[in-house]
Amino acid sequence: MTGIPATGIRAQESGAGMPTYAPGEPGGERPASGGFDVVTGAFSYSGAAIARGLLAAGRPVRTVTGHPGRAPTGTPIEVRPLDFADPAGLTASMHGAGTLYNTYWVRFPRGPVDHQTAVANSRTLFHAARDAGVRRIVHVSITHPSAASPYSYFRGKAEVERILAETGMSYAILRPATMFGGDGVLINNIAWLLRRLPVFAVGGTGAYRIRPVHIDDLARLCLVAGSSAESYTLDAVGPERPTFYQLVCFIKDAIGSRSRVVRVPGALIPAAAEVLGWALRDTLLTGDEYRAMADGLADTDGPPTGPVSVTQWIAENKDSLGRRYANEVDRHFR
Ligand SMILES: NC(=O)c1ccc[n+]([C@@H]2O[C@H](COP(=O)([O-])OP(=O)(O)OC[C@H]3O[C@@H](n4cnc5c(N)ncnc54)[C@H](OP(=O)(O)O)[C@@H]3O)[C@@H](O)[C@H]2O)c1
Repeated sequence: MTGIPATGIRAQESGAGMPTYAPGEPGGERPASGGFDVVTGAFSYSGAAIARGLLAAGRPVRTVTGHPGRAPTGTPIEVRPLDFADPAGLTASMHGAGTLYNTYWVRFPRGPVDHQTAVANSRTLFHAARDAGVRRIVHVSITHPSAASPYSYFRGKAEVERILAETGMSYAILRPATMFGGDGVLINNIAWLLRRLPVFAVGGTGAYRIRPVHIDDLARLCLVAGSSAESYTLDAVGPERPTFYQLVCFIKDAIGSRSRVVRVPGALIPAAAEVLGWALRDTLLTGDEYRAMADGLADTDGPPTGPVSVTQWIAENKDSLGRRYANEVDRHFR
């Protein structure tokens, strides 16, 4: 995409010796301890990519998941329940593991589950890993977590990072802004809407940037992190940071949509997303998600840590993008 600046890194290291990212060489030297690794949600999104990477590197994988029934027939992945009400069971599931790759989080509050629930569950998971003697935790967080954030998602993420550091375990934190590739939701569902609606509304100026990272780049960063002994924190971000308006227009042109992309007052977006979500029986975008993006929290200005270009990926996947709607509530709440 022309006009989209390339970027550079923004790593927040809390330990020395951050491992070098080597594209195409996931994992590197494997940890000496632990006969297998544990990945949360190996049949969901980022957990699936991490599990694929580990298996490709010859590392046995066990998953803890809320959806054991989604295990494909014949999977080499050992399946255990992600049951936060049973910490002893979680500890038993992780006993003998080298690294826990943690992707667990709750995108938005629904019913009795909110971000504070996810914080408490993350604490349970980390403590179970420590009790199980797990060597290291590689944790997927988000860009700009902050205890002072107005958004419960970002406050919760900051709290989880703090809890992880306080376990005293060896850890790495990877912070993506947003992810694409595989069966990711955001870009697919923008394309789905652009294929079906005569008008696509962008909130405000649409000038806020987003910094997507390919799911396999995130997985590689996680595997590199799993093979290190240093504790560190790193943004997991791709080479492009289009404005949201540019991104929507790029998707529209790529898929040949005739939808009109219009800018509307930002205050209208949460209500419009709620109406669409009601029609789709999904939560398309929460008010907080929109406001956080408009506040620039899905952007960073450092150099890329993952090489895959989002615009190139969209161009390569234009025929399949947005053919099927990706329903977040079906994935995680039904
Ligand atoms: N996706 C993005 O664009 C994006 C952007 C920035 C940061 N992140 C961060 O990256 C991490 C992984 O995200 P992801 O999109 O790859 O997640 P995911 O695969 O959809 O889910 C990751 C794990 O969380 C569990 N989970 C998700 N929602 C849940 C719910 N409502 N109740 C109970 N368990 C739930 C999943 O359960 P199952 O085992 O049942 O599948 C899975 O184990 C998260 O920490 C997220 O904050 C993601």
